[in-house]
Amino acid sequence: MNLTQDEEKALNGEEGEAVATAYQILTAIGKLTDADRLIPIAHAHVSGASYMTIGESGLQFLESFSSTARTKVFTTVNPCSIDLQTFQQYHIPTDYVNKQLQIVNSYRRIGVTESFTCTPYEGFDLPDKGSHVSWSESSAAIYANSMLGLRTNRESGLSALASAVTGKTAYSGLHLDENRRPKLVVRVQGRHVGTMDYSLLGYFAGKLTDQTLGFSGIDHISKEEAKSLSAGIGTVGASGMFVLVKQVNNAEVIDYTSIERDALLSEFEETTEGDAIVFGCPQMLTEEVKKLAAAIGKKKFRRRCIIFCSRRVYDEALARGDVNKIKNAGGEFLRDSCADFTPVLRELNTESIVTDTCKAVHYIKRVHGIKVSLKSTEEILKEYLQ
Ligand code: F3S
Repeated sequence: MNLTQDEEKALNGEEGEAVATAYQILTAIGKLTDADRLIPIAHAHVSGASYMTIGESGLQFLESFSSTARTKVFTTVNPCSIDLQTFQQYHIPTDYVNKQLQIVNSYRRIGVTESFTCTPYEGFDLPDKGSHVSWSESSAAIYANSMLGLRTNRESGLSALASAVTGKTAYSGLHLDENRRPKLVVRVQGRHVGTMDYSLLGYFAGKLTDQTLGFSGIDHISKEEAKSLSAGIGTVGASGMFVLVKQVNNAEVIDYTSIERDALLSEFEETTEGDAIVFGCPQMLTEEVKKLAAAIGKKKFRRRCIIFCSRRVYDEALARGDVNKIKNAGGEFLRDSCADFTPVLRELNTESIVTDTCKAVHYIKRVHGIKVSLKSTEEILKEYLQ
């Protein structure tokens, strides 16, 4: 790899130990991915903010790294595992809360914007189409490449952090035009609408290739559907981008019809009804909260319903009156927090959860050992609002 003189100096420690570590990470990735150089980025999105995912070793690393490392570019951060304003209302062990807060404070010291969201494409000024960025959080990275025209590899928390404090990333993978064209196209047939359907499509397609995916047969996709599709792909595979294609040229074609959809859905079937509802993996977008509030009308949830969203989405919903509408119906909001990797789900003391994305089912089952059933948002509202 060719490094500039300044990059060489930083790698050799002239900007301090933390920046040298960051350059070591980036040059190692560059060598592994055949990058010939590092390139500047316009935005970093870092993950690894939940104590439940990074644990003690991650916490110790961040404490030490944050003593000197500072962001060089605009940087947002993924959710942590608690709502930083209301965690006292939940019975989370004090020791756990303290560790989580240490992580949050480390990121504050480094200089990240306190977004605590896995949907950093909503509520923030984003760089122009074509800009190189470094985003971790698979669903966000896939969304950035596919819907925003940004260029990022699916970074790990560590590599995105290295990019945040150097302003650089390795010039390889999805930063290059040739890797952004699909070699495999999923020919989508039949009617697929809404969060759950796109989540299933992503779960199906994500297993097919590590490269850029093409989808034919989709004329239009909403922001919410694209979010679910991206999350589904990211949950089960390594692909970092999808493209909607009108014509299939020189690509392998795999069909996705209602048969594949129903077969996949049956894998998610659970016998239990669901003691609690979880919405927001990835965190709910403004439009989703609006639709939820509109669907509630004068009804009430007959099960505990927890809605995960960013603090920005929450604040806007509060100003619109949607937060009160949803809370009056029995809904609870958790900001700043991941919907899956949170001790709050344990605190629910529930045996089963119902949710509307494959990603939530996938992780809640594995992390908490709770039974989880997958239903469309509409089905959930029909069954659980009265
Ligand atoms: Fe977001 Fe956590 Fe789901 S980070 S995508 S809510 S697993």
